[in-house]
Amino acid sequence: MLNISKVETFYGNIQALRGVDIKVNNGEIVALIGSNGAGKSTLLMTISGVNKAAKGTINFDNKNIENLPPHEIVNLGISQVPEGRRIFSRLTVEDNLRLGASSNNKGKNFDEDSKEVYDLFPVLRDRLTQRGGTLSGGEQQMLAIGRAMMARPKMLLLDEPSLGIAPKLVNQIFISIKNINKEKGVTVFLVEQNAKKALELADRGYVLVNGNINLEGSGKDLLNNPDVQSAYLEGGKK
Ligand SMILES: Nc1ncnc2c1ncn2[C@@H]1O[C@H](COP(=O)(O)OP(=O)(O)OP(=O)(O)O)[C@@H](O)[C@H]1O
Ligand SMILES: [Mg+2]
Repeated sequence: MLNISKVETFYGNIQALRGVDIKVNNGEIVALIGSNGAGKSTLLMTISGVNKAAKGTINFDNKNIENLPPHEIVNLGISQVPEGRRIFSRLTVEDNLRLGASSNNKGKNFDEDSKEVYDLFPVLRDRLTQRGGTLSGGEQQMLAIGRAMMARPKMLLLDEPSLGIAPKLVNQIFISIKNINKEKGVTVFLVEQNAKKALELADRGYVLVNGNINLEGSGKDLLNNPDVQSAYLEGGKK
């Protein structure tokens, strides 16, 4: 479904991605783990067209998307939930969701699609008129995921959904990600520093080190891999 090949991305002279190859198959949950600064967010921004790949190709549903603007990529079926959530703090929960509908279905299906979001995250239904900025961190993350779902994506790109969120809500959010994948049939590409949770959830995973893919395998194999364990699962780096 998504085929990333030899992708290189720069910020000025700084090379953040150094030839990344990743495949995500239809229906999978794929996790990308890596330390701070490895290039995880850069890769998601490059897929969603916010950053441009200087080299390499990104193919989605048999179309090359590496030169498309972000809104066309959303319309093809890729929705991103950015790191740090980036909800509109002065807008209500409901208006945040309105902004998430893609230009393909804006307005038309709001009632139906927002109901699906409220079924997924019932807490949002109780807070329709509350401003986004006054939600708790975990609720904001739910809103950010809900907003991305409003575009009816085929694939969801999630950037560190567990960042800065209380453990109880982290579990809830990971369960929702699983439901989105299993029940709604949305393919998931998940970036996480919480490697344990991400690899437990994922069918397959990749490890990004300094802009290069260093390891790949099933979620289970990576969890059991001694190098992954010492770098990402035990002690220091989470
Ligand atoms: N806007 C920018 N301008 C210049 N350099 C940047 C910019 N954004 C990221 N970088 C650099 O690119 C590299 C990769 O950053 P990126 O944010 O992709 O890492 P990450 O793996 O998402 O890290 P984290 O886990 O901290 O979110 C880092 O060296 C970072 O300093
Ligand atoms: Mg990041």
